[in-house]
Formats: sequence, structure tokens, C-alpha cells
Amino acid sequence: MIINRNILTLDEFTIQQMRQFPNATGELSSLLRDIGLAAKRVNVEVNKAGLVDILGDAGSVNVQGEDVKKLDIYANNQFMGVLKHGISCAGIGSEEMDDFVVFDDEVSNNSKYVVLFDPLDGSGNIDVNVSIGTIFSIYKRVSTLGTPCTKEDFLQPGIKQVAAGYVIYGSSTMMVYATRRGVNGFTLDPSIGEFSLSHPNIKCPPDGKFYSVNHGNFFQYKEGVREYINGCQKKTKETGGPYTQRYIGSMVADVHRNLIKGGIFMYPGTLDKPKGKLRLLYEANPFAFILEVAGGKATNGEQRILEIQPTKLHERTALFIGSKNMMDELETFLNPSA
Ligand code: AHG
Ligand code: MN
Ligand code: MN
Repeated sequence: MIINRNILTLDEFTIQQMRQFPNATGELSSLLRDIGLAAKRVNVEVNKAGLVDILGDAGSVNVQGEDVKKLDIYANNQFMGVLKHGISCAGIGSEEMDDFVVFDDEVSNNSKYVVLFDPLDGSGNIDVNVSIGTIFSIYKRVSTLGTPCTKEDFLQPGIKQVAAGYVIYGSSTMMVYATRRGVNGFTLDPSIGEFSLSHPNIKCPPDGKFYSVNHGNFFQYKEGVREYINGCQKKTKETGGPYTQRYIGSMVADVHRNLIKGGIFMYPGTLDKPKGKLRLLYEANPFAFILEVAGGKATNGEQRILEIQPTKLHERTALFIGSKNMMDELETFLNPSA
């Protein structure tokens, strides 16, 4: 097989981007390379999940009382390991850890960035061969270089993200990441074991035809949300509906589809859980950043996700995210007077 050498690998692309900034230190490129390496290792395990004794619960629950799958732990250790051993990350926050982890060694204390991540998103789908993912969010530290990083470095509003991205372990494995300059997607080329630029400069279509929501919770949602969902099922001149409903239960897979094809993803608050289920720091914020850079929008129903001031690592938020025009329409249901 002849490999097309005109296609940039992830490393080549990030280095090319870096060369445009004469003062860049290369730390962000190195961080993204570390994340890419952990993703490749996780990918290998995800792909053989049905073959080895890696399926099923690890027999413990995480800080949020959810079943922890063996692969959640494996993925957490891989991402934490590459970030700890790399030269760019001063500390991490993870869905699978009770608290932030400050690396506190000489190299890490001089590193510019902190990273928050969901090591395996949609992990309830592992046992049934459905796409799952990893989500990450990168901030520049606000604490002094040369000292251990602090809580304040992690608790910055999403608007301050330097980069954010996700990996989808699907029919092919992809890494998509955004900086303020654009969103780019890389598909893992198994023949060379490298992520290669397959989706340059991704833009989310302003109009879409998909809506993604857990319909089982319909009667738990507020009236405006229920009315919007009902509207998605009707044919109107303005919206071009009815829209197609697609919800697989892995946010990475659902939002990836809507980013590429156009659509809206919702995890609204319910009567029991007004802030819904998704976590602000490592699920909502990174996707809000990616979608906004790609031309879409993200809100909690009242406020732009990226402007929320976080107060704790595992904070939850309602989330509505997707194509710009669909989001504008949704907002007329959520804030009828606006
Ligand atoms: P995680 O596996 O990291 O806990 O996240 C699962 C999330 C998200 O991926 C998905 O959109 C959502 O849970 C599905 O929740 P419901 O089953 O309540 O719809
Ligand atoms: Mn998740
Ligand atoms: Mn997870």
C-alpha cells in the first residue's frame, strides 16, 4: 500500500501551527502529542475489549457513585501517565479522580498548562460495542511558574481554554481538537500508527437535521424544552423539520455527528436533577469551546456555557449545544420574552 505523504500527521500539523508563532515554546504541541499517544494506547484496549477479560465492572464506584468500568481506570491511568511524564502539564483533573492532582516535581512546576479530562465518555456503551470517547480541556495556568499549580488554574471559565478536544473510538478512531484558530480532525491511520489530518478546518453547518436528547426523560423536562422537542417532530416552513432523532448515549459520538452534519444535542435539567448529568469542566466546556470555534453555540439554558464560573471539579450543568440556527430557535422556547 502506498501511503499519501502529503497528509500531515498530528505532530507535523501542531509543529506547523507552532512555527507561525516565533515565541512559541512547543509545549502545546508536545501536550497534544502526549494526549495522542495515550489515545492510541486506549484505542488498542478498546478494540480488543470483547476478546480479553477487560469487560465489566471493576467492582467499585467512583466519587459520583457510578459504576467504574475497567477501561475507565485503564484510560484514566494512560492519560494521567503521559501528562505526568511529559513536559507540558503541571496537573490534571479527571472524572475518575476525587480531586485535582498536582504533579509537583521540578519539570511539572515549570509547565505552562493544566488539563481536565473525561478518560472514557459513554463507558456504559463499552460492553455493547458502541462508539465511546475521551474528552479533554487545556488551560494556561494563572499561578506562578516554578511553583506547584493550584485549584485556581483548574477553576477558570471555559472561555479561557487554550485548546479542547476529543477522541472518538468508533468505526475509525479520530482525534478532533480546537484552538482559537480552528477545529481540525485527525483519523488514526493504522498502517503507520499516526493520527493524520483528515478533516481540516471543521465548520458546524448552521442548520442541521438531527436532534439528540434522552426522550425517556421527556416528562422530567421544563415546559419550554418539551415544547421545543415537540416542535422538532413537526414540519414547519421556518425550520424545515421534522428533524431526525439520534441519541446513542455517548456524548462524544452524538456531538461529533452533529458537529459534522449539523444538529443539536441536549442534556437538560430534570425535576430531580435541575443541573442534569453532564459535568461542566470535562464534558460541557470542551465541547462548548469546539462548537463555538466551529461556528455553533452552547448554553445551559440561561447562560453561555463558556462564561460559567466553575466552583468545583465535578460540577454539573444542563447543556444545549449545536448548530447556530437550531440553537437560536431553541432559545426562543427557553426564553420566550427575549
Ligand atoms: P460517562 O460515561 O463519562 O459517565 O458519560 C456518559 C454521559 C454522556 O456520554 C451521555 O451523553 C450521557 O451520559 C447519557 O446519559 P443518559 O443515559 O442519562 O441519557
Ligand atoms: Mn462522560
Ligand atoms: Mn467517563
